[in-house]
Amino acid sequence: MPYNDMPDHIRRVIEYALSSEFEIDLSLSDDIPAALTDPLLEHLARLIIERTTRAAFDQALDLDDATLDLADELHPRNRLNDLTGSEWLWFTKSVLRTSYPSILGHELRKQQGGNKPPQLMQALIEFFTKTGECVLDPFGGAGGTALGAHLAGRCSISIELNAESIALYRAVCQQENIEPHSFIQGDCREVLPGLPADYFDFIATDPPYSPELEQTMSGAGAAGHQPDHANRRSSYVSYSNDPRDLSKCRTFEAFFTALEDVGRAMLRVLKPRRYLALILRNAYQGSEYIYSSAVVAQRYSALGWKFKGEKIWYNTGTRIRPYGYPSAFVPNIVHQNILIFRKE
Ligand SMILES: C[S@@+](CC[C@H](N)C(=O)[O-])C[C@H]1O[C@@H](n2cnc3c(N)ncnc32)[C@H](O)[C@@H]1O
Repeated sequence: MPYNDMPDHIRRVIEYALSSEFEIDLSLSDDIPAALTDPLLEHLARLIIERTTRAAFDQALDLDDATLDLADELHPRNRLNDLTGSEWLWFTKSVLRTSYPSILGHELRKQQGGNKPPQLMQALIEFFTKTGECVLDPFGGAGGTALGAHLAGRCSISIELNAESIALYRAVCQQENIEPHSFIQGDCREVLPGLPADYFDFIATDPPYSPELEQTMSGAGAAGHQPDHANRRSSYVSYSNDPRDLSKCRTFEAFFTALEDVGRAMLRVLKPRRYLALILRNAYQGSEYIYSSAVVAQRYSALGWKFKGEKIWYNTGTRIRPYGYPSAFVPNIVHQNILIFRKE
């Protein structure tokens, strides 16, 4: 049965399983095995996930009976978050594969290019803060972080250049009956210096991924069409025409320099020993791979951030396109890099 024709509750079970350890890839096949339609699967899936997590925790830490209970409890010395030992360990995996259900005004939020699932932001926020702490997002968009903070029971402040994105977020809050979190409209490079130093408990953000260069691969007849790359139909995401928008940088060098300016300003407003999660996507431009995440990790380290690692986020179901086929390798970049830095 094609996935899209399945009843909602069955799809939820499958999405739940997909967001966990199960090796089922919907992008490879539209047909789901009939056994998966059994509602008992949800219960089974939960059991497997719980046991796998618990077993992984026990095995990794080689715990004895006395400390074993900590896997299911908040550690008395945990000053970072409210997670149990097994939840903590689960989060530290360097790859995150998700298939989140569309919630919290997704129909409205999808008008915002690059919008982030609130559940993804919730997971980051729940790892890097305790209940009631305050999160900052300098590229707030239509509120992925603000909604994640709402789900996690944290407060948040977002900065966003584009008034339309902020209006989208407020419309979502109204539709979902949520008290809106604070948004400040403006260029974050101008707003951040006015915020108090050492104030925020966590910064989670996803800036524009790359400068919005000319569309080089488009259908015949479109502006910028190049017959060698005719498979590409999408243009680069445009958030606004404001020249202060980072996606308006003319070159990658200018873009990385602008991100450095933001990095310097974010370092000042974060509390010492707290974390920044910066979501980036590598790019493919001018026939070569631009390793943006590596460049930014290096440049932020030079600013004084301590680079702690990354989580590769793969949202299953991302569409793939036949770039380069059948003559050259061109990657379908279906993952994003969540870079984790600490202010030490
Ligand atoms: C990838 S989107 C963020 C999406 C957001 N996480 C969400 O869930 O909707 C990047 C955002 O950065 C904003 N932006 C670009 N340059 C900016 C600047 N200099 N200051 C503040 N916001 C900026 C864009 O308007 C856009 O909304």
